[in-house]
Amino acid sequence: HNHPPHRDFLNIADFSPAETFALLNLAERMRTGAYDRKPLAGKALAMIFMKSSTRTRVSFEVGVTQLGGTAHFLSPRDVQLGRGEPIADTARVLDRYVHGIMIRTFAHADVETLAEYAKVPIINGLTDLSHPCQILADVLTIQQHLGDVRGKTVAWIGDGNNMANSWIEAAAHLGFTLKLACPEGYDPDDTFLRAGLSSGMVLLLRDPREAAAGADVVTTDVWASMGQEEEQAKRALAFALYQVDAPLMALAAPQAIFLHCLPAHRGEEVTAEVLDGPQSVVWDEAENRLHIQKAIMAALMGNEAL
Ligand code: CP
Ligand code: NVA
Repeated sequence: HNHPPHRDFLNIADFSPAETFALLNLAERMRTGAYDRKPLAGKALAMIFMKSSTRTRVSFEVGVTQLGGTAHFLSPRDVQLGRGEPIADTARVLDRYVHGIMIRTFAHADVETLAEYAKVPIINGLTDLSHPCQILADVLTIQQHLGDVRGKTVAWIGDGNNMANSWIEAAAHLGFTLKLACPEGYDPDDTFLRAGLSSGMVLLLRDPREAAAGADVVTTDVWASMGQEEEQAKRALAFALYQVDAPLMALAAPQAIFLHCLPAHRGEEVTAEVLDGPQSVVWDEAENRLHIQKAIMAALMGNEAL
């Protein structure tokens, strides 16, 4: 098979920094109602979900519809992929019907295989390795509340998971400082981390207070991600000192915002006081998934110029 001329969004760096800022501007126009084109008219998006989802599923579905196209939800309970049909075959069938494929799954390599064999753009809707749509939505939310992300400081508290990996990529790519506080044994992916550290924009710490001190943004995520449910008890012990609570938020900048990709567990990685408090912008953050993904699809599937 040949590599067909299509662009994918598997990780943050698949768009250049200039393209990423153009995407954020396009998403901001969509957010504020200044965009009314239908670049996906007559086009279809397949959405493969091997894991649960509320935000990703609904925001992609509604987003495609708003841009004039149709969305097709595929769960492993229904499609042959769930019964062992190879990803490469699924890719070469789906691309005869649709103009783009969004996938949420476990192994990142499966998404790369899909991208290798499909002739249409592939969008990563979360893997065990990364969650780039969410991080662009988070950057959009930062710019909505605090202005230009460049020069800001983001504090990541907790697990070095898929979210942390995409934050690392974004910091180096877009020019903000990322201070990660992860317990030993729960560091981010080695390849992402080394690139981040060598960019000078990323710092790996152990103490949450050191990471939060003076930060413009404090953010965290669940202690056990999808697929790690059986590690919940062990992880609850490892992360006991990594809860985002009011005293931790008080160390951040006075205007600091709190982000969480959701779903959240009040009383675990974040207290109810912080999640439901005045510094939390998590509902705007969830809304921004819709706007940034519309911008991504308009660019990749609809020829919207960046
Ligand atoms: N944040 C996020 O991706 O949410 P869902 O799992 O509900 O899609
Ligand atoms: N890290 C979490 C994010 C959920 C949106 C997970 O992978 O389950």
